[in-house]
Amino acid sequence: EQAGKGEYDHFMLKEIHEQPTALAQAIEGRIDPTNGRIALEDFPPGTFDGVENVQLIACGTSYHAALYGSLALNQAGIRATALLANEYSVTAPPVDDDTLVIAVSQSGETADTLSALRQATAAGADTLTVTNVVGSTAAREADETLFIRAGPEIGVAATKTFSSQAVMLTLLAQRIAADSRGEPPADLQSLLPDLAQMPSQLEDLLATDDAAHIARQYQGSQSYFFIGRGLGYPVALEGALKFKEITYEHAEGFASGELKHGPLALVTPDTPVFAVFTGEEDEKTLKNAEEAQTRGAPVIAVCPEGHRAVEVADEHLEIPDTDDELAGLLANVQLQLVSYHAAELLDRPIDKPRNLAKSVTVE
Ligand code: G6P
Repeated sequence: EQAGKGEYDHFMLKEIHEQPTALAQAIEGRIDPTNGRIALEDFPPGTFDGVENVQLIACGTSYHAALYGSLALNQAGIRATALLANEYSVTAPPVDDDTLVIAVSQSGETADTLSALRQATAAGADTLTVTNVVGSTAAREADETLFIRAGPEIGVAATKTFSSQAVMLTLLAQRIAADSRGEPPADLQSLLPDLAQMPSQLEDLLATDDAAHIARQYQGSQSYFFIGRGLGYPVALEGALKFKEITYEHAEGFASGELKHGPLALVTPDTPVFAVFTGEEDEKTLKNAEEAQTRGAPVIAVCPEGHRAVEVADEHLEIPDTDDELAGLLANVQLQLVSYHAAELLDRPIDKPRNLAKSVTVE
């Protein structure tokens, strides 16, 4: 097992560091070199003709990627909703001929997700699986499959597969919108070059040790809060999930604007607040973070250098400048590192947290 970890103490850290390669593999050959457009070679032209409505179903970290994907689809002009697969049997919205149901699952074996996928198929929806595992049950059962090509993930807490799922869903959103409307709706001039430089930006980010410093500084706090808006919201949820999974400390993620509608009652000088800035109404997020700061909470801004939040926050974790559609994913990597280092300080069994399994095959 030690051999498989290479120079790293844990698979999780190795997999965090594999993200530049995983992303480069994910996007390779999937952008049309002739026109710079997203041409997911996995699907023949017109595969998504007539798709008006998308439901994304998933659990755990994959649900956060699904939420990210649903927002990317909405921004591309397609109606989309992310749904917890384990709630689907009791809350599924109606499907019709124009509905595409996308199961997002690293393993392709999660029982809750398979059950929701089968329900959607029985209801007559077209289905697609976004997965890491070739030959998995979800890949075999869905009409179409998009492989994220992240390579094997051993750590129970998903890291590189979240990033690859979110990037592939962002590309897929553009492709679905293009097929459905006959024309890519978004201005891809910024997204595509920024996507191409994301692996090298991640290399730079991974070479810094700011996250380890933050983990040490706030060690022993009562609770850890994560806030974000727009695409920063799934990142806040994922930041908190990762933190609780591997540190066993209490952590919660909130939509920034929701803090004042209840969670603010929990905020004290002993509850650090990580605020994720993705370029979507950042001024509002900063105001929400300041509301926590006024109650004594230390605020750690996750944002590009030169951002106004750097002056206001107590600390910051830097992310490289990029398109708004990708900023949250860079922020997420900083948060993965904070969780990893916090768990390491507590000497937790990082790759195999208590009570958790890599793939849950019971409902
Ligand atoms: C388990 C794992 C999580 C994972 C979830 C969904 O709960 O511990 O890390 O996000 O299953 O797994 P999937 O393979 O469907 O993405």
